[in-house]
Amino acid sequence: MDLSTTYLGLKLPHPLMPGSYSQVEDLDVAKRLEDAGAAAIVMPSLFEEQITLEELHMIHQMEVHDEGHQEALSYFPKPDQFRLGPENYLEQIRKIKGAVSIPIIASLNGMTPSGWVNYARKMQDAGASALELNIYYLATNPKDTGSTVEKRAIEVLRSVKGAVTIPVAIKLSPFYSALANFARKLTRAGADGIVLFNRFYQPDIDIDKLETTPTLAFSHSSELLLRLRWLAILSGNVKASLCVTGGVHTAADAIKAVMCGAHAVQMVSALIQKGPDHLKVVLDGMKQWLEEHEYGSLKQMRGTMSLKKCPDPEAFERANYMKVLRGYRP
Ligand SMILES: Cc1cc2nc3c(=O)[nH]c(=O)nc-3n(C[C@H](O)[C@H](O)[C@H](O)COP(=O)(O)O)c2cc1C
Repeated sequence: MDLSTTYLGLKLPHPLMPGSYSQVEDLDVAKRLEDAGAAAIVMPSLFEEQITLEELHMIHQMEVHDEGHQEALSYFPKPDQFRLGPENYLEQIRKIKGAVSIPIIASLNGMTPSGWVNYARKMQDAGASALELNIYYLATNPKDTGSTVEKRAIEVLRSVKGAVTIPVAIKLSPFYSALANFARKLTRAGADGIVLFNRFYQPDIDIDKLETTPTLAFSHSSELLLRLRWLAILSGNVKASLCVTGGVHTAADAIKAVMCGAHAVQMVSALIQKGPDHLKVVLDGMKQWLEEHEYGSLKQMRGTMSLKKCPDPEAFERANYMKVLRGYRP
């Protein structure tokens, strides 16, 4: 069965890969993922704050009494709370590159077009075949308009693209008022791929301590539905390749994502919960399903449920909404 796909210009034997998460920077985990058949390795993110705060901490050691710095330093994690500092991160790319023969996609996570983006070039030089740029951002400032948020993201993308020659994917949240239009703008600004979607880890509240407490819950296949809808909408409407992240746990989940237009399929929660070998279970399940349903290749299946090709495109639009609400019987 031909499961081959092209994602970010990379010719891959199939679309399955781990998404960005911390354990992947462990050489042993990276090798286990390769053994399980992963088509590529996505590294955990190097954060803008991690890069700038390390510089700030260096300054802080020299200027202990600067209160502006003190405040920023108390809120963010300290550099030693990240498993790898920026330079060690680059070193780890080199080590993983030397240990596996699949492409490595490095990940940069930030929201301002400033000096930290130089690390994009360093990641390329360390051996990354592509970059994933995660622009996780919450517009809490009432002065921020949708248009300024989009413009800033495009500026960051442009500066990263200007720093490298390898392909760059952009990982988005679903919270844009006109995502189809924004995706097209990102593609025009040079995005080679669009990764749908970031998960937001909502902080809980400790009512006794009056503190927010960070929470991390693993995903469930039900979270895939939001991604399927947007894959289906964007498929065939943007030149960038499409990747799904969020809610892929089974072969059926991965098949749905490809049917809606995904060129690549990432998994994190499932691999953390079941181990890296679970990737092979999903891959074998996909192969078996395609054979049983007499597809000639994965390519033949891709996009069959996209908005452009779907026999019932209204199923993704307002009709679905009305049907669900009107059709409910207790
Ligand atoms: C422990 C953990 C660490 C993660 N670290 C990153 C990260 O460094 N950068 C990033 O872009 N996403 C990160 N993510 C988000 C995942 O890449 C992925 O988008 C999300 O978990 C949804 O996919 P899933 O449903 O397969 O888990 C992390 C997720 C988990 C659970």
